[in-house]
Amino acid sequence: MATTLVIVPTYNERENLAALITRVRIATPDADVLVVDDNSPDGTGAIADGLAASDSAVFVLHRTGKAGLGSAYGAAFRWGLARGYARLVEMDADGSHQPEQLPSLLAAADAGADVVLGSRWVPGGGVRNWPTYRELLSRGGSAYSRIVLGLPQRDVTGGYRVLTAHALESIRLEDVHSQGYGFQVDLLFHAARAGLRIVEVPILFVEREHGVSKMTGGIVAEAMFRVTLWGLGALPGRLKRRIGR
Ligand code: GDD
Ligand code: MN
Repeated sequence: MATTLVIVPTYNERENLAALITRVRIATPDADVLVVDDNSPDGTGAIADGLAASDSAVFVLHRTGKAGLGSAYGAAFRWGLARGYARLVEMDADGSHQPEQLPSLLAAADAGADVVLGSRWVPGGGVRNWPTYRELLSRGGSAYSRIVLGLPQRDVTGGYRVLTAHALESIRLEDVHSQGYGFQVDLLFHAARAGLRIVEVPILFVEREHGVSKMTGGIVAEAMFRVTLWGLGALPGRLKRRIGR
């Protein structure tokens, strides 16, 4: 049985999914793939079913409606942990996370990391064709989260990651409440608090060529609001440690 599960959340990715899954199967032939579709109106779920029917390493988790990236990953992690996978991978369906770079992320997990972050903002990493406002939003969001939450990582919002089953079991998923993309920060914050070994590996994020981003102002607002709340919650402890030094 495969020990690695690549999780691909989808909402209206009909033009992207088949090509992405093909690339994943070539880049990491030993890994299984789980598509988590939120009943995409464009028929992505049926495309996923077709891929699963012709490849026994591909699975599909159908949900009844769009409930957000965080909730999709929560359901997928539980699916994967229940089936005994040792490593669970987060990967976007639109080709922004290049499957050809997954072996370098998995190598960091082999070397002992509990959580591997594909990182745009470390030397060797970067973005291609990303609109300037999105780059500013990502860099700004990372900087804000780093300062407010005391996280040392450079790319805290990214969605190309490897988590060991051990990491996910120590995080307590029921405490990770964010529904939108802020889930990525939420998960990292909990991983840091659990004392897990977190490593950043450079990735080149390539903006999608087909379809549209599902990022909205509301998603950004949810993330900023929660990060600020957690930061305030963690402040007394940080101050105490500083004074104690
Ligand atoms: N199942 C499900 N449900 N999938 C979703 C949902 C949802 O509610 N919302 C988005 N997705 C899927 C998309 O179909 C895609 O495969 C992936 O999640 C990422 O969505 P995009 O809309 O393409 O994200 P992005 O390119 O704007 O944002 C990227 O950068 C963010 C900031 O760094 C992603 O890498 C995010 O993960 C990251 O937080
Ligand atoms: Mn995208």
